[in-house]
Amino acid sequence: MKIAIIGGGPAGLYAAILLKKQRPEAGITVYERNRADDTFGFGVVFSDATLDNFEKYDPPSYRRITREFAYWDDIAVHFRGTVHRVGGNGFCGCSRRTLLLILQERARELGVTLSFETDIEDEARFADADLVVLADGINSRFRDKYIGHFQPEVDLRSNKFAWMGSTRPLDAFTFIFQESEWGPFIAHAYQYEAGRSTWIFETDPATFERAGLEGLNEKQSADRMAQIFGWFLEGHPLLTNRSMWRNFPMIRSKRWVKDNMVLLGDAKATAHFSIGSGTKLAMEDAIALADAMARAPTVEAALGQYEEGRREEVEKTQHAADVSLVWFEHVDRFWDFDPVQFAFGVMTRAKAITYDNLTLRAPDFVREVDKAFATQVRATGFDVDVEKPDAPMFQPLRLREMEIANRAVVSPMCMYSAEDGVPGDFHLVHYGSRAIGGAGLIFTEMTCVSRDARITPGCAGLWNDEQQAAWRRVVDFVHANSAAKIALQLGHAGRKGATKLMWDGMDRPLEEGGWDVISASPLPYFPDSQVPREMDRAAMDAVKAAFVQAAERGEACGFDMLELHCAHGYLLASFISPLTNQRTDEYGGSLANRLCFPLEVFEALRSAWPAHKPMSVRISATDWAEGGIIGDDAVKIARAFAEAGVDLVDVSTGQTVRDAQPVYGRMFQTPFSEQVRNEARVATMCVGNITTSDQVNTILAAGRADLVALGRPHLVDPSFTLKAAAWYGADGVFCPPQYLPGKEQIFRNSVRDRQDFDDLKIKAKPKTRAELKAEATKPLAAE
Ligand SMILES: Cc1cc2nc3c(=O)[nH]c(=O)nc-3n(C[C@H](O)[C@H](O)[C@H](O)COP(=O)(O)OP(=O)(O)OC[C@H]3O[C@@H](n4cnc5c(N)ncnc54)[C@H](O)[C@@H]3O)c2cc1C
Ligand SMILES: Cc1cc2nc3c(=O)[nH]c(=O)nc-3n(C[C@H](O)[C@H](O)[C@H](O)COP(=O)(O)O)c2cc1C
Repeated sequence: MKIAIIGGGPAGLYAAILLKKQRPEAGITVYERNRADDTFGFGVVFSDATLDNFEKYDPPSYRRITREFAYWDDIAVHFRGTVHRVGGNGFCGCSRRTLLLILQERARELGVTLSFETDIEDEARFADADLVVLADGINSRFRDKYIGHFQPEVDLRSNKFAWMGSTRPLDAFTFIFQESEWGPFIAHAYQYEAGRSTWIFETDPATFERAGLEGLNEKQSADRMAQIFGWFLEGHPLLTNRSMWRNFPMIRSKRWVKDNMVLLGDAKATAHFSIGSGTKLAMEDAIALADAMARAPTVEAALGQYEEGRREEVEKTQHAADVSLVWFEHVDRFWDFDPVQFAFGVMTRAKAITYDNLTLRAPDFVREVDKAFATQVRATGFDVDVEKPDAPMFQPLRLREMEIANRAVVSPMCMYSAEDGVPGDFHLVHYGSRAIGGAGLIFTEMTCVSRDARITPGCAGLWNDEQQAAWRRVVDFVHANSAAKIALQLGHAGRKGATKLMWDGMDRPLEEGGWDVISASPLPYFPDSQVPREMDRAAMDAVKAAFVQAAERGEACGFDMLELHCAHGYLLASFISPLTNQRTDEYGGSLANRLCFPLEVFEALRSAWPAHKPMSVRISATDWAEGGIIGDDAVKIARAFAEAGVDLVDVSTGQTVRDAQPVYGRMFQTPFSEQVRNEARVATMCVGNITTSDQVNTILAAGRADLVALGRPHLVDPSFTLKAAAWYGADGVFCPPQYLPGKEQIFRNSVRDRQDFDDLKIKAKPKTRAELKAEATKPLAAE
């Protein structure tokens, strides 16, 4: 067998080693355009888990690599004169040059031919090869040559970065967030061998320009960085080696294989440097390729298996890297945060590290986070314990004169079970049990302002006395039997009206018994849905009056708060999104015009609703569709409502058009809440695939939302909050006297359960190499 490998980086060399071990008879050549020791860059980093993999696949290179490595366990975050250190991270750093020399040596030993200073222009010279590995890096010539086949998507990110080195020793993976006269700069730094550390500097494009970095050469820009970070460098120089400022390209390729050619490493996909996974991905690609070659009967089958088997893992890492890079791009959102909350945000930015997880490995840090959170709450007038504070989820919040005992919320959820809009016994039990279950705030389902405003025949309404009396019964029960506050969500279905009950076909038009529907523009939701009537001014006046009347009835019921539903493609949302609003009058066109009618309704409600009671608005912060609303629009929408007096923005997404492409995942809408909260400076509630109290605390502590709503988790667990309170020992949570013995039991048991759980987790976690090394070098205690 003959194998040609283009590119002698970590991917190409490691593939050569593993394939040669597997097929000693094969003729394997690595073609590298540079000289053998002519490598750019400084250090690379691997996690303990990656090293375990290397040990399994090639012990000799693993041993040589780990002999040369620097280990560390802590991450240190420097921000506004403070430093927060968090342990238990398990990373290793090594010089990229040393790594490549080790891999070259090992490849030679096994009989791989290494052909340096050989720039491959055309793969036609390998016509007789059985396999051609394209490991030619981030600017892959061959990926571009066959661009129509591989279909790479290159997303050039906005921030500028430069990779430098220093002799400054470091004992932790170090992030430095530094204000300068030009704006914020970030350093990502770690030691990779004695007396050598990698320094990646990053800044936003405006700061880059203000700092005049564009015109500077390498030496001059290193001097500028040394000027900004001089206080930390302590006289150590910054070293350069092709340290130009660049924009990071996020690369994803639709296909990785063409005939007998396969893309490996950065050539096929990249992961942002802030999660330090580029070299890991490159070498693990080589492992996956070698595994597939060992298993499959033909090269063709092996390449198919490699692509199919490896893609998910690569995409997962890329997703984590995306989330992380976006955090760094928007660091200005957090720049005025309390330093400990800022550090918590850095640690938890990519979702893998959470509040509970940090409590286990850095309890003092989390205690500080809790104290800072409680101190902020205290500053708003609550007499909360700052020395031994409850977890963020159990801190109170005030909106106007309404006080919510904790931050867990039951999200609005249609039950499709009303008769002629009248909520019945099901609703009383449903809302009542969730209120008793401990949530701080309960939202009603979308309650429709008129008969024709309903989504389905089972939707609840508030346009007549019978409905008002039925809602009053629910509100009275909640107030009499729980500490929960209850908010009324008012809405109008618009073009999504006259549709079937959820379980009969969501958003599908009724076959009989329907009613005429209205919208901003005459666009049906499905091609076979009813074509809505475009609203004229008279229809707008009628709808506004219906909202005001429903709000007045809501006040008569005793609701604590009012929410205006401007999300999910319903009537008011249909005005806001350009995908559903194609009007040419003053209610269409610019975002300001499209907001006119929803704001008019909001203002009318704000005047009708008592001044001491808060109001929220629910928005779709993105349509997840080309040409639709995006996060930046959501900030403008939130600002407009805030100016009109909104107290809270309930940040949801999508459901505007049926061909949207939402990106689901854990907490998938939280980034939009974070953006709206910290750019528009308005209180937010986030929601969407948040399923654990650990996630709730992580979101709140990092300042990504002020309240956290859970929908589906509350459908199956009315006592979500009470159980979470037991887990965190927040015994101030409300429990009706009838249920107190149950509360006492769960609180007692939870202390033991939590201890057992933590012990298990600690036992299950392998020791990091840094810990093992520290233990091995620790002097023996005197007997
Ligand atoms: C600023 C920055 C910081 C980073 N920090 C880290 C980190 O801390 N940890 C980490 O793991 N990773 C890090 N990376 C990522 C890491 O450098 C790459 O992801 C990794 O090197 C990819 O390996 P590769 O073999 O795919 O590509 P490369 O290492 O780029 O190797 C490709 C090789 O192909 C050669 N080549 C290209 N074209 C041809 C041709 N036509 N003919 C012959 N040879 C050719 C090139 O000369 C090069 O040697 C960082 C990257 C950047 C940009
Ligand atoms: C059965 C059901 C009914 C819903 N009805 C409404 C509603 O009436 N009003 C509304 O704003 N959102 C409604 N939603 C959306 C939820 O409020 C929430 O945003 C969504 O379920 C995502 O949160 P989750 O992942 O916690 O469930 C509904 C969701 C479900 C599952």
